[in-house]
This record gives sequence, structure tokens and C-alpha cells, in this order.
Amino acid sequence: KRHLLSAADLSRDDAELVLTTAEELRSLADRPIKKLPALRGRTVVNLFFEDSTRTRISFEAAAKRLSADVINFAAKGSSLSKGESLKDTALTLEAMGADAVVVRHSASGAPHRLANSGWVRSSVVNAGDGTHEHPTQALLDAFTMWRHLGSLDGRRVAIVGDVLHSRVARSNALLLRTLGAEVTLVSPPTLLPVGIESWPVETSYDLDAVLPKADVVMMLRVQRERMHGGFFPTAREYSRRYGLDGRRMATLQDHTIVMHPGPMVRGMEITADVADSDRSVIVEQVTNGVAVRMAVLYLLLGGSQPAVSTEGLSE
Ligand code: CP
Repeated sequence: KRHLLSAADLSRDDAELVLTTAEELRSLADRPIKKLPALRGRTVVNLFFEDSTRTRISFEAAAKRLSADVINFAAKGSSLSKGESLKDTALTLEAMGADAVVVRHSASGAPHRLANSGWVRSSVVNAGDGTHEHPTQALLDAFTMWRHLGSLDGRRVAIVGDVLHSRVARSNALLLRTLGAEVTLVSPPTLLPVGIESWPVETSYDLDAVLPKADVVMMLRVQRERMHGGFFPTAREYSRRYGLDGRRMATLQDHTIVMHPGPMVRGMEITADVADSDRSVIVEQVTNGVAVRMAVLYLLLGGSQPAVSTEGLSE
């Protein structure tokens, strides 16, 4: 495949190849020298029109660990403020010889436009588009679950919170279904999207009923910046009904893990004691994000050497 735009583009074989490649690459983190020459001479451009901490930094770390050159573009400080379009920004990157463009944009569909327009010849990776999709987040989430639980076939994953604005929820619902898991979205009725019936999921308004059956509980951030018509229910009511606190965590099965894609709003969707508990794999998700993004870049750019080889280790 040339681009990664949607979790729906991945067959089960594709997704499992990313996970197994990421597992090989993750072992690098334990080695004194962390760099591989697999993408030497290639250029990866991080094109971020919307803020990011984890995704931008982990794509940069992933590309550098594969010895690619990295160009970071942030909308703030760029000529976008002078009225430059996505097309002209893309043509500029193409002129600089990008092999892969990792794009985050507030407009749903922007990475698809970039990939299908003919403006760039490079691979396009969706790093989060509006409220639509975030496929590499879903891959790193699946990788984290797989490392803890083994096969995801029949595993029950509860995704809890602001589904309406969540590209993470949509990409996870699609990918987890492909990998055989059963997803339940738990959300207030006002924070479920129109058309949810077509998603491969169950839905519930009752968090306390879902938690004891879940193998994974994934909490979502309440995205107040995308709520232009106010916030309903109130923050206090939201936390009471849909927040994960110590009392609710005590109803989980022993093996159940707690996830959050970040950034978290401690005290809103998750309490600090839960976020910092032994069940929480939130920091591990970030570590896994680097290995998964290395795997994605490596597989898309078709590195000419095996991803991991002891002889290939270099400074
Ligand atoms: N999970 C995630 O996409 O985080 P950032 O917005 O910090 O990249």
C-alpha cells in the first residue's frame, strides 16, 4: 500500500503485519544503539496544521530511528498565515523531495485530498483529520492491547466518552473489528455521532453495566475546543456518569487494562489515581507509538533492508 489514510484500508493481514513489524522494532528500545539504516536517504515531512505532542514527536522519533531525514512543518509560524493553500504547501513539499508526508489537519478528509489530488507523489499518512480518523493511534492502541492480552479475537473493548468528536474512536472501532474484538461505545446520547448505527459496534449509556465485562477500557478526552454550541452535560455531571474513578476501577476484572490516547484531562474523564495506577498503560501507549510508526513508515516506504538486523545497527 502507498498511503495510510483510514483504519478501514487495512485488512487483517495488513494490520497484523504492522503489529509484528512493530514488535521487532520495539526490541530496539532495549538496545544501547537505537538507530537502523533502513530509510537512509529518505525524507519524511511532518505536516501539522493542528497541535500535537505525542503524534508529531513520535513520528519524528520513528523516522530518525530509521535514519530518515525529517522536516517538521507546523502551521504556526508558516506562510499559511499569509493565505497559502494546502495545495501550494503540498507543492512546496513536493519540490523539496518528500518521500512521505505525515499530515494532521482540523478538516476531515484533508489527508485524502492530499493523497488523491496528484499534488504530491509521496506516501501520505493520516496523523489525525478533524473528527474523522487517526489510524496510527488505532494501530498503537491495538498493539498495546495485543502485547497485554494476546489475540484480540472476542476481546471486549469499551471506548468511553466524547465519541462525537473522536477520530480515535472511529479508527479504533474499525481496526478492532478487523482484528476480531467486540467494541462497545459508552457515551452520553448527546456525544454519539449521527449514523452510529453503521459503525461495527454496540452502544451503551450505562458505564457501570459495561465495565465488569470489559477486557480493555479506553477513556476519551472531552474535546471542548470542538464544541461550539456549549457543553452538555455539564463537566460535573459528565464526570459523575462517565468518568473513570477508583470506585469504578474496582469493578474491573483483574486482567483489564485502562487506556487513554492523550492528552488527558485529569479530573474530567479520568481521575489521577486511575491514570497513575498499575492498570493504566497510558505511558506505554506512547512508547508503543514510536515502534508502530516506525513499522508504518518502514512498510510504506519499502526500506531496502530488513527492518531489524544486528549487522545493520549504526550510530
Ligand atoms: N493521541 C494524540 O493524537 O495525541 P497528540 O494530539 O498529542 O498527538
